[in-house]
Amino acid sequence: MNKNDRMFASPMERITDFDFGESTAEVFDDMLLRSVPFYEEVQHMIVDIAYEFVHDASVICDLGCSTGTTLRMLAGKLRNNKHSVHTLRLVGIDSSQAMLERARKNLDQSYNGCQTSWELRDLNSGVTGVVADVFIMNLTLQFVRPLYREQLVRDICQNTNSGGCFILVEKVLADDTLLSRLYIDMFHEFKNRKGYSELEIAQKREALENVLIPYRVGDNLQMLKACGFAHVETFFRWFNFAGFIATKN
Ligand SMILES: C[S@@+](CC[C@H](N)C(=O)[O-])C[C@H]1O[C@@H](n2cnc3c(N)ncnc32)[C@H](O)[C@@H]1O
Repeated sequence: MNKNDRMFASPMERITDFDFGESTAEVFDDMLLRSVPFYEEVQHMIVDIAYEFVHDASVICDLGCSTGTTLRMLAGKLRNNKHSVHTLRLVGIDSSQAMLERARKNLDQSYNGCQTSWELRDLNSGVTGVVADVFIMNLTLQFVRPLYREQLVRDICQNTNSGGCFILVEKVLADDTLLSRLYIDMFHEFKNRKGYSELEIAQKREALENVLIPYRVGDNLQMLKACGFAHVETFFRWFNFAGFIATKN
């Protein structure tokens, strides 16, 4: 049972960098529902796009899978599809053991007929050894250090089968700094409406400052192209959040 997120509710003497350990994992599902605009709808969008790129014996890989929400929803949709589900493999990768333990509990080894596997890995070192028709990164590339980000996207493109895709959702900056600030204000309004106090919002913002580094929309699009994807599109936008689809010929 997921607990309510109260991680930043009490005043903190010293704010340390945000991490994805046990205390975050145990409130994570509630945290995302209340801190990411359109979280559920974007999950549906990711699943609907991924579904179109799946065929018999496909591998679908979620990088930064956390508690397995996206792969669980995808397996639910694939259960009723035209392909033989038992030939499909869902791979979740994350650097947090606490998250992967929950993902394993949420999806057993053969979930809805799909084979599942979970790997503890640091994506700052890139991603090799997994070839897939669909790669998904929902709100995770933003945590990969900028120094390693482009190499990781290159690895993803190289490991995407011909005709496959990469679905990327990120917190983003607007190209204009004034608008960027405005969008961040809108985002705080959203969190307020979801029941977070000013103190919670301010303390979490500080904890994330050196950890979550968003890029501009244009820079994300350019990086996807430069790393080898043939077609790149934005499929979702809400102020400072954007979803991108990149396909490979
Ligand atoms: C905001 S969460 C992703 C949410 C998730 N994709 C979803 O749809 O609910 C970011 C995840 O990325 C993982 N992560 C952060 N940095 C990572 C890294 N360098 N390598 C692998 N995973 C990382 C975290 O442990 C966390 O589970």
